Amino acid sequence: MQGPNPPTSRPGPGWREYGAVMDEQSFDARRMHPALAGAVVLVTGAGRGMGAIYARRAVEGGARAVSLWDVDDDAARRVAGSLARVGVEIEVRRVDLGDRDDVVGAAREVVERFGRVDVLVNNAGVVRGAPFWEHDPVADIEATMRVNTLAPMWLTRAVLPSMMADTTRPKRILNIASAAGTLANPNMSVYAASKWALIGWSESLRLELSRLGHGHVAVTTFCPSYVSTGMFAGARGPLLTPIMTPETAAAAAWSGMLRGAPLVLRPWTVKLAMALRGVLPVRWWDAVAGKVFKVYSSMDEWTGRRDPALTRD
Ligand SMILES: NC(=O)c1ccc[n+]([C@@H]2O[C@H](COP(=O)([O-])OP(=O)(O)OC[C@H]3O[C@@H](n4cnc5c(N)ncnc54)[C@H](O)[C@@H]3O)[C@@H](O)[C@H]2O)c1
Repeated sequence: MQGPNPPTSRPGPGWREYGAVMDEQSFDARRMHPALAGAVVLVTGAGRGMGAIYARRAVEGGARAVSLWDVDDDAARRVAGSLARVGVEIEVRRVDLGDRDDVVGAAREVVERFGRVDVLVNNAGVVRGAPFWEHDPVADIEATMRVNTLAPMWLTRAVLPSMMADTTRPKRILNIASAAGTLANPNMSVYAASKWALIGWSESLRLELSRLGHGHVAVTTFCPSYVSTGMFAGARGPLLTPIMTPETAAAAAWSGMLRGAPLVLRPWTVKLAMALRGVLPVRWWDAVAGKVFKVYSSMDEWTGRRDPALTRD
């Protein structure tokens, strides 16, 4: 089902990944990726940060409808306003991803309204940067696990059967995890756990779909290191791991999703860290990660910003 990426002729979203050069006239008709052309796209956490960029890329890439979900619906409405374009239906839904009924109900309404979901981006996330014993059991631990881990499962479970049944076009699921799901890091234990679980689920789902004959639904897991959206304000990028701009990070995730890449790790040091952690004895790796790469102190100055989903003062 997944045709080759079409070539493009001028700079635009994802143009580098498509590679080849074409003449100007054929560009507009040919630039759309088959997974995006006329697609119904659902993005969670679309009110700001990388979620807003995924929404924009969906509109620019030829989607027919884009559903922007956020608990901060004012922010999502501002994003929607900036994306308004003839021929594209853009809707905003106030959904609290920590609430399963809210998630399942909204998913049903999206399918009722647009008939299907073709591209699902599980992007929303929250973080509490503190030693584990300072996490509130409900407002921090439970809220983080609900938003970061359970909500992608609830939402995917709600829309996946219809995605599997519709073999007329390629389908995509992009799960935004984190480098924090690939190695341990002090001051983000619950966040790391939430992303670690997300990766295990996302990768297993990918394998199930391809092994059981549903290869038109491709699952991509994205694991970025720090990105300058404000979520990790105050954190320091480890050695050789500069803090990425949201545009750079989202571009890597988006092109990986269109290609149907299983796993996208950015920057390259995330992959290096996984390899070293796999081969070195634990305490050697601790010394390398802590003293050489300075991963373990990267959250020492974290301030973040106040998240609506984490209700503590
Ligand atoms: N920023 C980073 O450094 C970084 C690094 C690795 C992974 N990530 C992951 O990338 C994703 C996007 O991160 P970002 O930096 O763009 O985040 P962000 O904080 O800029 O935006 C997150 C969005 O999710 C929404 N949201 C939060 N809780 C919600 C809830 N309960 N229901 C509905 N919406 C909710 C927020 O309102 C916000 O609009 C997250 O999953 C995050 O964990 C971020």
